[in-house]
Amino acid sequence: MTGIERVLTGIRPTGPLHIGHYVGALKLWLSAQQANLPCYFLIADIQALTTHADRFELVQGAVRKVTLDLISVGIDPRKDNVHTVLQSKVTSRAAIFDLLTMEAKLKDTENNPTIKAEMAQLKQEKREVTMGFFNYVVSQAADILMVSPVKQRGNHLYVPVGADQVPHLEATNRIVRGFNKTYNTNALTQCEGRVGEVGRLVGTDGDKKMSKSLGNAIMLSDTKEAVNASIRKMYTDPQRVRATDTVESVENNPLFIYMRAFSPDQEVVNQYEEDYKAGKIGDAPLKAILAADINNMLEPMRERRAEAEREPLGDYLREGTEAAEKLAAEVLDRMHDAMHLGYQV
Ligand code: TRP
Repeated sequence: MTGIERVLTGIRPTGPLHIGHYVGALKLWLSAQQANLPCYFLIADIQALTTHADRFELVQGAVRKVTLDLISVGIDPRKDNVHTVLQSKVTSRAAIFDLLTMEAKLKDTENNPTIKAEMAQLKQEKREVTMGFFNYVVSQAADILMVSPVKQRGNHLYVPVGADQVPHLEATNRIVRGFNKTYNTNALTQCEGRVGEVGRLVGTDGDKKMSKSLGNAIMLSDTKEAVNASIRKMYTDPQRVRATDTVESVENNPLFIYMRAFSPDQEVVNQYEEDYKAGKIGDAPLKAILAADINNMLEPMRERRAEAEREPLGDYLREGTEAAEKLAAEVLDRMHDAMHLGYQV
């Protein structure tokens, strides 16, 4: 007997997506789609409000932008196994969240390094920490578990994510184990993270984080000219004043970080690296090659986006959301039963 395998992952609609999202996360989404597993791709609009409650219009606009970005990279909601889900519209998800809070422990949030870092950031910006933010981890557990199969050999719930999300998956699994034990049930199954090799991509200015708001991002929707301009002014190695200067290492040089992430032929990049270290090649020719590689990658995405602009995105989201709701309602029933709340009145 083969078991039930499902994939769930999500993204916060706080703006259009950039090439860092593509290499860091969306490539993993695409391989899940290609493996023909049932995939639930969540647009986490409620979670977006944990940091963007005062920018709700931006979030609303970003739902469409992110959906277009997803389709442009090859996510295909017309496929039977692919569901694009709008978080706020899955009503059973909120009820699952409510029930999970009875099992989740304060320390799941308090000790969570990602939450700690984000909380410190909020403090620095002199912003209050809302309960919604504090409950982020349990809410994300509800996102994941709303498509949980029962705990049974052969059943799997995969969650492809970046490394920063791993603490949330560990917390989710602590909650699952606790819930199943407290209520003596197999209603929920633990999730399995699928963490990509590529971490966060640096910005074109060398900042640790690529982000549209920092102005150091190459967006998936950028034109060829915009890409060329961003790469032309890209930060490289401040120690290397002339093309003939030699350098020890290119490890922290964004030019090479990008070539490693985006050049189709890594053998050729090895050669560029040797030449660059030996002072035989300058920034400008390498930048031209990198810009061409990125544009080659983006070109089919631009074509796909142009088609998708005319497609019924709302229908895709509604179909995906309904599919998730169906599973979430089943999970909620199992949880109610396990918690002795399954009675009729
Ligand atoms: N927190 C994730 C992020 O910021 C987005 C997300 C929301 C998510 N719900 C999820 C990821 C469920 C994986 C599973 O990128």
